[in-house]
Amino acid sequence: MEKKKVLVTGGLGYIGSHTVVALAESGFEPVIIDNLSNSDPSVTDRLQDILGYRPFVYLEELRDRKTLLEIFKEHNFHGVIHFAASKYVGESVSNPLKYYKNNVDGICSLISVMLEYDVKSIVFSSSCSVYGNSEEQPVTEDMFRYYPPESPYGHTKQIGESMLEEFSRAYGLKCFSLRYFNPAGAHPSGSLGELPDRKESNLFPLMCRAAVDPEYQLTVFGKDYETPDGSCIRDFIHVCDLAEAHVRALDVLEGSKESYYQILNIGTGKGTSVLECIQEFSRSNDIEVNFKIGERRKGDVVKVWASTDKAERTLGWKTKRGLDEICKSAFTWYKEVKKL
Ligand SMILES: NC(=O)c1ccc[n+]([C@@H]2O[C@H](COP(=O)([O-])OP(=O)(O)OC[C@H]3O[C@@H](n4cnc5c(N)ncnc54)[C@H](O)[C@@H]3O)[C@@H](O)[C@H]2O)c1
Repeated sequence: MEKKKVLVTGGLGYIGSHTVVALAESGFEPVIIDNLSNSDPSVTDRLQDILGYRPFVYLEELRDRKTLLEIFKEHNFHGVIHFAASKYVGESVSNPLKYYKNNVDGICSLISVMLEYDVKSIVFSSSCSVYGNSEEQPVTEDMFRYYPPESPYGHTKQIGESMLEEFSRAYGLKCFSLRYFNPAGAHPSGSLGELPDRKESNLFPLMCRAAVDPEYQLTVFGKDYETPDGSCIRDFIHVCDLAEAHVRALDVLEGSKESYYQILNIGTGKGTSVLECIQEFSRSNDIEVNFKIGERRKGDVVKVWASTDKAERTLGWKTKRGLDEICKSAFTWYKEVKKL
């Protein structure tokens, strides 16, 4: 039987590449479009090593409508997972135009071509950054409806959610907006993960660096927040658990005959402080992390973790991997990619 093809925009990126693997493992055929603006061509080779075959990869710009039309003509897509976006909060403050152009135009271009080819199912990468600073924890999907965004990046995710909700109603699309919490960790093979040395790194690549580079010290931004140990609290989710949620989401959309729109939190439901995270990283990898306490960083949310009830109910999915697995896999990948 022919495999169902799924277009993965941004499929050479961190979360996209892990989702490509999860899709292939579940019997789908992923087709990637990525303009390499925040990824490396070597990811295709790495995917080939894991999958045992070379996936279809178009090194193209998502907003180029002509290219997109050709790709849709070439493949009969069952659905789309839309990761391609610019994602750096700080950069979005200094260059908001880049963010509105890429993240909002990207959705318009994609949806218009999907409609032309009658492809109805789409899973959209949203973010817990849409919750801003909420007093109540864990956050539930309906707790917020458009707080002032913390950054232009967060605003583009709010806009994306609204657009997709309206498009679902108007054009009969079937859509999930998945609000990711803090993806971390890497594929168990050690050959796929979050590329280090990006513009604004997440905590894990920086912790890895602080563990091996004597010249580098990790800064923990603030130890005077109203949390048990004074550092910020996040909900760290293993990237492979996150990837699997996308596959479930596509299955659920397939089962729906009518237009459909749902927002789901994709996290573990457990808050971990930055200091606890450093401690667990040291413990599970048996290595010291060189860090110092710095000033609070502007724009950081104090604490956020997910209520996962709705995702568990809707997708029949929950996370399987713990923080120790996140820490170990992140470090194994870091050493592999840095050839240490
Ligand atoms: N990583 C996180 O912490 C996090 C948290 C919440 C939400 N998200 C969202 O999840 C999605 C994926 O995140 P990620 O961490 O894998 O990011 P990433 O930067 O690693 O991956 C995004 C990929 O999209 C590609 N891309 C960007 N714009 C494109 C365009 N116009 N045309 C074609 N390709 C394009 C990039 O080259 C990159 O490979 C993003 O939408 C991001 O905003 C990420």
